[in-house]
Amino acid sequence: MVTGYNRGGGFYPFWCRSETVALGGKRIDGKVKRSKSSRQWLDRHFKDDYVKKAQQAGYRSRAAFKLLEIQEKDRVIKPGMRIVDLGAAPGGWSQIARGLVGEKGQVVALDILPMDPIAGVDIIEGDFREDEPLAQLRNLLGENPVDLVISDMAPNVTGMASVDQPRAMYLCELALDFARECLKPGGGFVIKVFQGAGFDEYIKSVRQSFGRVVSRKPASSRPKSREIYLVAGNFKI
Ligand SMILES: C[S@@+](CC[C@H](N)C(=O)[O-])C[C@H]1O[C@@H](n2cnc3c(N)ncnc32)[C@H](O)[C@@H]1O
Repeated sequence: MVTGYNRGGGFYPFWCRSETVALGGKRIDGKVKRSKSSRQWLDRHFKDDYVKKAQQAGYRSRAAFKLLEIQEKDRVIKPGMRIVDLGAAPGGWSQIARGLVGEKGQVVALDILPMDPIAGVDIIEGDFREDEPLAQLRNLLGENPVDLVISDMAPNVTGMASVDQPRAMYLCELALDFARECLKPGGGFVIKVFQGAGFDEYIKSVRQSFGRVVSRKPASSRPKSREIYLVAGNFKI
């Protein structure tokens, strides 16, 4: 899903920007003809309470509420922390993280998509699977380890589980490798994982590196979605 935001940081749905491309609609005689699935998505989106709440609160995405719910339960973010936000665009999680770490903290956001600035957040635009953005990230972080890595990364879906699931798991593996590389002892890791092939093995692998691992399905996560969040703490070197 691609959402958008304006320069002032306010939320606006992505179809204001490029609806025919983003929704796969066809423009016929000046009218947009949408596929059934696109119309269903739009209906669901407009009726979605969390979309409305995000707009009202000035969050760039409804995803912001997922991190807020995790924070409410697990208190993963504390003032002064250094946090890396992977798959950050349009910036809902970074907004929340920035607010919670305060002036003494640091938030570094990375996404393959461009992201408008957020005061106090360092933004890297690049594909996390490639070396160059990772080098930029390492460079920005320097020698000091970080307190928390959060990842909401999700690849574009094709609708074919045999393609989508391995792609999603690959991003999760990369995020875990990165967390292992840059976290301080006792650090935390919050990651979106999709239930399906490779899920159980992945949790086992996270448990090997963290003393505490719980799974969360926030109320703001659509019940039909296979996404689930792993909240890991007490990183063991
Ligand atoms: C669900 S959205 C994240 C929403 C974000 N947490 C928020 O609160 O606004 C998933 C993001 O993962 C990003 N993503 C997918 N594949 C990526 C990759 N290979 N490298 C970096 N970002 C990626 C997408 O561009 C998308 O912005």
